[in-house]
Amino acid sequence: MPGDSFGHSFRVTTAGESHGSGYVVIVDGCPPGVVLSETDLAVDLARRRPGQSSIVTSRDEPDEAEILSGVFEGLTTGTSIAILIRNRDQRSRDYADIKDKYRPGHADFTYDAKYGIRDYRGGGRSSARETSVRVAAGVVAKKLIASSFGGRVVGYVRQVGSIVAEVKDPAAVTLEQVERLPDGEANVIRCPDVERAAEMVELIEQVREARDSIGGVAEIVATGVPPGLGEPVFDKLKADLAKALFSLPAVLGVEYGIGFAAAVLRGSENNDLFYADGRGGSEVRISTRSNRHGGMLGGISSGMPIVLRAAVKPTSSLPQEQETVDRKGEAVKVRTKGRHDPCLLPRFVPMAEAMVAIVLADHWLRWSASGRTTRVSGEGE
Ligand SMILES: Cc1cc2nc3c(=O)[nH]c(=O)nc-3n(C[C@H](O)[C@H](O)[C@H](O)COP(=O)(O)O)c2cc1C
Repeated sequence: MPGDSFGHSFRVTTAGESHGSGYVVIVDGCPPGVVLSETDLAVDLARRRPGQSSIVTSRDEPDEAEILSGVFEGLTTGTSIAILIRNRDQRSRDYADIKDKYRPGHADFTYDAKYGIRDYRGGGRSSARETSVRVAAGVVAKKLIASSFGGRVVGYVRQVGSIVAEVKDPAAVTLEQVERLPDGEANVIRCPDVERAAEMVELIEQVREARDSIGGVAEIVATGVPPGLGEPVFDKLKADLAKALFSLPAVLGVEYGIGFAAAVLRGSENNDLFYADGRGGSEVRISTRSNRHGGMLGGISSGMPIVLRAAVKPTSSLPQEQETVDRKGEAVKVRTKGRHDPCLLPRFVPMAEAMVAIVLADHWLRWSASGRTTRVSGEGE
């Protein structure tokens, strides 16, 4: 199977390529009665779209989504939801001289190795443009988890290059903080630490001047998630979330909780200690005093906020010459002429939120269908 679908009970299938006529997503499994309109989709699509600020690519892709099916009079009908986004600003000529060259860091060589044919005009199926329809599906998932259990997913930029934001309580970060600075201006880098945000923007501008690009880390936090979501073995919540994030372009690492930092701790330092609040009896509410475990234990949600991070590489396309080889194996130079983001992080945030919401919607439906009920309530309820 070619892997164009993701999820079990909330299942998302995408089709489309960056230089074709557009993208489609089909969302299967969304229950009836969820409030949904094209205006709802537009909010997150605007956060993902190119041309939104001076620190992202200047490509002008309006990304207007059209709901083709599955919604009637503003409510989901319970049947498959199809969403279409047409491509509008493809410039195939920008790609003509890289037709036979393997761009460093891109999927050109691996696509040729796999298919023997590739659409050189912009990455074809590997293009990050594919994530536009995933973001649309993510809006459906966000609405479903919000209306079902009060779930909320917020992502932000935690690091650009070596500039690391200070975020004392990831679960307290609001969408407003991510999108707006205290003075009301747009927070173009989507970092909630205002001082670091300004430094990150400056760094990205310097990197762009130097005809280069830079990577970073996005942090995604899901709150309101009840304890008990996730399957015990292969479909652990942490495994599905990792797959969801790794399925996004340019992701080189995923961690949750304290992640790789756990390697240097003793068990006595790392364990998050349980406590029950005062209500007692069947109302007992169990939480942990700290959240190094990142909201999942045994791959099942603990009721604490789910905290994930994804390391995103620097954009591969560079407006400077680099050495490579062509399809015949001959040494050539390549320089990308198209318009590219000097840093992928600000536009990556809504993509990552979408994928996390899709996984949570899926596991919520799987949990609901299983007839199980949570024995205890947690922070999330
Ligand atoms: C928001 C976003 C935008 C992207 N835009 C570009 C781009 O303009 N140029 C580029 O070289 N790579 C871009 N990428 C990354 C490539 O799609 C990706 O690196 C490439 O397909 C190879 O896949 P891999 O990095 O996952 O191995 C983007 C990624 C994201 C998340």
